[in-house]
Amino acid sequence: HKTRRVFSGIQPTGVPHLGNYLGALRQWKRFHDQSTDPNLVLDYEPQQFFSIVDLHSLTGDVSPQDRLRLRKESFASLLAMGLHNTAETTVFFQSDVWCHAELMWILSTFASTGYLSRMTQWKSKLNLPESANLDSDEATAKLKLGLFSYPVLQAADILLYRASLVPVGEDQLQHIEFTRSLARSFNSYVQRAGSGAVFRIPWPVLSPAKRIMSLKRPTQKMSKSDPDPKSRILITDSKEDIYAKVKGAITDSEPGISFDPERRPGVSNLIEILKHVTESNQPSLFIARDLENVSMRAFKEKVAEEIVKALDGIRDNFLELMQPDNSRLHDEVFQGGWKARDKAKSTLQDVKRSLGL
Ligand code: ADP
Ligand code: NA
Repeated sequence: HKTRRVFSGIQPTGVPHLGNYLGALRQWKRFHDQSTDPNLVLDYEPQQFFSIVDLHSLTGDVSPQDRLRLRKESFASLLAMGLHNTAETTVFFQSDVWCHAELMWILSTFASTGYLSRMTQWKSKLNLPESANLDSDEATAKLKLGLFSYPVLQAADILLYRASLVPVGEDQLQHIEFTRSLARSFNSYVQRAGSGAVFRIPWPVLSPAKRIMSLKRPTQKMSKSDPDPKSRILITDSKEDIYAKVKGAITDSEPGISFDPERRPGVSNLIEILKHVTESNQPSLFIARDLENVSMRAFKEKVAEEIVKALDGIRDNFLELMQPDNSRLHDEVFQGGWKARDKAKSTLQDVKRSLGL
C-alpha cells in the first residue's frame, strides 16, 4: 500500500517563536495528529520524520555551549507541542544519524556548483546582495564550503527518508527544487546503469501562514535574529508576557480596525495572527470587518487571549521536560535516533549498491 512520507527539519535555534509555530511547526503537528487519530480513515500509510537539523547549525555563528543548550531547548519545544515518537512519527537529531553526511558527499558529486552559486541563502546569510557571485573576492573570502553546500545536505536529509512531502517556508522552495533536480540526476544516472530509481521525488508543502511579521517592526518577518525580544512571542511565553508583548505591538493611531497590510502593517499583522491562531478559514478582510468598531486596546486583548488559548499547555510541558530529573527528553532523543538511523541506513545501502560501492 501507499505511504505518505513527510520530512521536515528546523535548525536548533532554541524555543520557537509564533512565526515558526504558525509557519512551520503547526503543520508538523497536524501531520502527527492525523496519523494518530483513530477516527480518521486514510487510504495511505502516514509516516513523518521531523528533525532538529543540528549539522546545518554548524554553518552559523554559535558557540558549542550555546549549541548544546539550544539543541535541548529545541527538542523539548517539539515535545512540549505534543510531537513525539510513535509508530508513525520520528523526532530526532540530525547528528544522531551519520548517513546524512555520507549521503551528502555522494550527492555532492552530482551537484552543480553553478546551480548552487545562484541560490540566495548563502548570500543572505553573509549579507551579500542577490547579485553577488563567486567572481568576487569579497564573497569567496567569507563563504565557507559548508554554507555553500548547505542545500546538498538538505537534499540528503529529505532523500534519505524517501519523503514525498516536505513542509517548508517560501524561502526554502528553491532548495526543494534543487533537491528534486539532484534526485532526478541521480536516478537517471543509476537507471542508465541498469538499476531502478533509488530516490522518490519530493513535493514542497507551503503553510497558509507564510509571513508573520515582527511586533516591533511590522514590515519585517518575526525572527529570532531580531535583537529585540519583544518583537516576537515564544511558544513558551507566560500569559502575562503574551499580553504585554501584544499590548506593546506597534500599530497606528487610526481609529478602528481594518486590514490593509500596505498602509497599516502593524494592525494587519495582528489580524493575520488572530486568523491563524484561531485557524479561521475566513479571509483577513472579513475578520477585520467584524472588528471595525472595536478599540485598539480591546482588539489587542482579543488577539492576546487567542494566542494564549492556542499555545495553552506548551509552557507547562516545556518547564516539566526541562527539569533535570526528567528522563523523557533523553528517552525520546534515543528512540528517535534509533528509528531514523534504521530508515536512513536502508536508503543509503540502496544508494551505495546502485553506485557499485
Ligand atoms: P528565523 O527566521 O526566526 O531564523 P527560521 O529561518 O529558522 O526562523 O525558520 C524556521 C521555520 O519557520 C521555517 O520553515 C520558516 O519558513 C518558518 N518561519 C520563520 N519565521 C517565520 C515567520 N515570521 N512567519 C512564518 N513562518 C516563519
Ligand atoms: Na531565518
